[in-house]
Amino acid sequence: MLHHTRCNWKIGVESFLDHYHPKFVHHSMFRATGASLEDMRANSVADLGGGHTELGFSHHNVAVGRPLAWAGGIAPERLGDYVPAMEAAYGAEEANRRLIAGAPHVMVFPNLCLAQMNLIVFHPLGAGECVQETAPVLLDGAPALNRRTLRQCEGAMGPAGLIIADDAEIGERTQTGLMARSPAWLELSRGLERDHTDSDGALRSPDESDETTHRGFWQHYAQVMARR
Ligand SMILES: [Fe+2]
Repeated sequence: MLHHTRCNWKIGVESFLDHYHPKFVHHSMFRATGASLEDMRANSVADLGGGHTELGFSHHNVAVGRPLAWAGGIAPERLGDYVPAMEAAYGAEEANRRLIAGAPHVMVFPNLCLAQMNLIVFHPLGAGECVQETAPVLLDGAPALNRRTLRQCEGAMGPAGLIIADDAEIGERTQTGLMARSPAWLELSRGLERDHTDSDGALRSPDESDETTHRGFWQHYAQVMARR
């Protein structure tokens, strides 16, 4: 699916890599679907280097301990043969761990976003407009899961999608606000004191509202743009 939005492509990328906006920008989605804000809490935000970023959910999901809570809380028995196939492939214990832990949200610099069962790419059209391309991730041999993924993608990212319309509206308002050029600089220092280098070499903060990911993206973007 393609969505034309009147904002710079980097505003779209920013809306993907921060995790403080869903609570208010997508509040109507939580109200309409009854989804729990708690089920989509990120336990860390990380600058992976090279402009790549991560919103980590797995530690929180493991603490919650419910399989597929991260996927809208669907009951595993509604996914046909998917869970038995996972158990056959990985063993019951490892399959359960994977179904509970889910996957992170990863932004591959500069414009590819991996959001569990959705792929998103932001294509620049000009300084003030872009196209957001989204596609569901479908798996071989998992028809029930694929049907669910398609419906979720349509509901969130389709023409009347609950999520993409919110982000597009805020992206366009942000573009308008930035064109005022005053103040000249945006403050992105939230959580600087919590950033620490983890055992994998990523710069990480345990607070989902910290701007660690924004800083990682923009610092690398500035470096790339300064090269001759
Ligand atoms: Fe959003």
